[in-house]
Amino acid sequence: MSQSPSRPLLQIEELSKIFHIRQGFSSQEFHAVDHASIVIESDKPEIFAIVGESGSGKTTLAKMVLGMEVASQGILRYRDRVINDLSNKEMKTWFYNEVQPVFQDPFAAFSPLKRIDRYLYETVYNYKMVEDKKEAPRYINEVLSEVGLTLAEIAGRYPNELSGGQAQRVAIARALITKPSLIVADEPVSMLDASLRMSIVNMFRKLKEDNEVSVIYITHDLATAYYAGDRIAVMLRGWIVELGPTEQVLGNPLHPYTQNLKTSIPSINVGETWKDKIDLAVIEADEYTRTGCKFAGRCPAVMDICQDNIPPNVVHGGRTVKCFLYDENVDPAKKTYLTPAAT
Ligand SMILES: Nc1ncnc2c1ncn2[C@@H]1O[C@H](COP(=O)(O)OP(=O)(O)OP(=O)(O)O)[C@@H](O)[C@H]1O
Ligand SMILES: [Mg+2]
Repeated sequence: MSQSPSRPLLQIEELSKIFHIRQGFSSQEFHAVDHASIVIESDKPEIFAIVGESGSGKTTLAKMVLGMEVASQGILRYRDRVINDLSNKEMKTWFYNEVQPVFQDPFAAFSPLKRIDRYLYETVYNYKMVEDKKEAPRYINEVLSEVGLTLAEIAGRYPNELSGGQAQRVAIARALITKPSLIVADEPVSMLDASLRMSIVNMFRKLKEDNEVSVIYITHDLATAYYAGDRIAVMLRGWIVELGPTEQVLGNPLHPYTQNLKTSIPSINVGETWKDKIDLAVIEADEYTRTGCKFAGRCPAVMDICQDNIPPNVVHGGRTVKCFLYDENVDPAKKTYLTPAAT
């Protein structure tokens, strides 16, 4: 077996999270994340966008990567370690040095009663980022400059004295204090004005270029995903239905689900969201649990084979696409389209 030159930064392979839905007295299992695979290499920082409608499993996937949810099945490694096997001590002293979260609501991360610079000082001290406490202001100033702020601007201020954009910048600065290699940002711009979104996303790009930080960027905002994402994964009911270079996946989508987006790409504007563009009128209740393709019930290209068989991940056109349309192993005779019922 050939060995890759260096271990991936993050290896997600066939990863699943199973939850139980209670229905009366019984409960039914469903996969919130269903055999998802993503590899982020350690020698090539990237912005990896994850998009998908509400409930597609983006946050659940992010939480597993952050060690906040235990995976039910599959492989989940950060560098050479299985994330679920890390002790609390290793999580604190190593993992959270390397992997940092940024969440949707910057204000939720800060107590309204505590001055915001205290958070930065505490993180610097807790992670022993300076040898002498006297060096902390200089260190914090350096980190704040990465997000376009200075310590003088925020010192002594309480969270409610900051704008949403400023608070999110401070939250990102806090994430940068430990000099992480990976930031997992779950909808980091969705509570900000459209005009501020690009500036935050540009910051991620700059961090990637200047500091070699990779960012998992989860969003409903296709414009920023298109603009910032080097690669993108499109999620549908726990599956990754298409994964590849963003320009290809959004510019020339192959999966019928991603193709719903195509019309929005040329005129893509900041602030346009997934829901603005995708017709979500007919989401089938059984999509999580149906036997064949989860998209079969709403797919304009549905074929007989899709009804009872799970589509494979086919490598096609420079990306991975989970769809029988591109599966050369299937007898073309079986790829028949469903004929409309006779009237
Ligand atoms: N702790 C839990 N227990 C049971 N079900 C859960 C739990 N957490 C999430 N789910 C379910 O898992 C599915 C995926 O949820 P998740 O929050 O990961 O989706 P999402 O893609 O982040 O959605 P959104 O875009 O709305 O943030 C949803 O059906 C959700 O209700
Ligand atoms: Mg979410």
